[in-house]
Amino acid sequence: MHQIQSDLVSFRELVPEISDTGYLTHAIFYYPAKFIPQVVRYAINTYTKEGDWIIDPFAGSGTVGLEAYLCKRNAVLLDLNPLLNHIIPLKICPYKERLKKGHLFELLEEMVQSAHHFIPSWSNVDYWYPPEMLEVLSKYWGYIKNIDRSPYTQIVESALLKTSKHFSYAEHRIPKLYRSKRKKSYIEDLLKTEWKDKLKEMVYTVSLKTLQDINNFISITPKHKNRVEYKGGIDSSHYQVGHACDALITSPPYLQAQEYIRTAKMDLFWLGFEEEEIRKLARLEIPYRKADRIIQAKTLDSVRTVLERKDLINLLDSYFCHTINALENSMNSLKSNATACIFVGNPSIDGIKVEIWRILMEYFTQRGFIFEKVYEDKIKTRQLFGARKNKNPDGMKSEYLLILRKA
Ligand SMILES: C[S@@+](CC[C@H](N)C(=O)[O-])C[C@H]1O[C@@H](n2cnc3c(N)ncnc32)[C@H](O)[C@@H]1O
Repeated sequence: MHQIQSDLVSFRELVPEISDTGYLTHAIFYYPAKFIPQVVRYAINTYTKEGDWIIDPFAGSGTVGLEAYLCKRNAVLLDLNPLLNHIIPLKICPYKERLKKGHLFELLEEMVQSAHHFIPSWSNVDYWYPPEMLEVLSKYWGYIKNIDRSPYTQIVESALLKTSKHFSYAEHRIPKLYRSKRKKSYIEDLLKTEWKDKLKEMVYTVSLKTLQDINNFISITPKHKNRVEYKGGIDSSHYQVGHACDALITSPPYLQAQEYIRTAKMDLFWLGFEEEEIRKLARLEIPYRKADRIIQAKTLDSVRTVLERKDLINLLDSYFCHTINALENSMNSLKSNATACIFVGNPSIDGIKVEIWRILMEYFTQRGFIFEKVYEDKIKTRQLFGARKNKNPDGMKSEYLLILRKA
């Protein structure tokens, strides 16, 4: 086969109607390595039509679901991270009536007076909180967990997630769960001030902002009747999808920088998850599992032959085995002629470039898919797990959107 050339594009320029990556409800949750919505919008506009079903087996924070809904497409979203189940009802609010500020404030006032308590079942919760802050947070959470669920409780819950990270020893400016010296002294200084008022104010402010974002979303989607189904907390390699789909749009985990479950641990504990459940999920995360088969593809074989370190070969094998298992499982649900749009980087491992898109292309073109094209988008910034917006995440300079079509 002749050497395939990528089409150099800028998705931000191709989709000028989206100028803010956090528009509408896209920014309600922090999530590492999110899609920029422009990539998804471009794929939806180019490869799907109204009423189509789109599947995303690595849905993360649901960018594909929100863009699909805005463009009147249906979506099936899957992810190992159970946070998806809490994110989607807020990002893609199922209610058609605008939410009322007055209702939200009544609920917040009751929460502040509440006598309930909830302490996460996290053995080292004390490592992350000074006792007085834990006490106030547990009272607020106790209230929210003891009343009937509604969009208002979900809004407050999401504000409490952000507040519970902010008022803890964990660095709240980065996605990764990490206790820093800077944050410890920040909390110590805060404790000398009117911190209870500040904590309460944060819950109020974030809740109100979320309600406004949701109302904007409701206002512009009054007639949308399409569906977004979601299932967080599952391994996409095995989950049986109940629909025949018209397209797949997804971005698999990065080869090295990921630890989504560990990153989400504090949120998951507050949402009521138990230690053992979280551990079980973390064991299923790509690429922290043993490969159960070795993927054969020309480009992958040549990386394997030059890689010397056994641990890196294992990492590579695990990554491709489980990423492909999950992709293949979802791609089995595609109708013939359906398109798969897979957004990946090409990181280096021990100084050796790993062209993920090419490896996926080689694998799937042997199995009933036709290569359509590959777009190359030069990376501007992307927040991964660390502090800074990373100009060059994982050693990558470009990201690629691989387009395959089912024969
Ligand atoms: C690059 S992120 C996707 C981000 C998403 N595109 C967004 O915009 O929010 C990759 C996702 O793969 C998920 N993941 C990792 N292992 C998985 C598995 N075995 N099954 C399903 N999802 C998995 C992670 O939880 C993470 O959310």
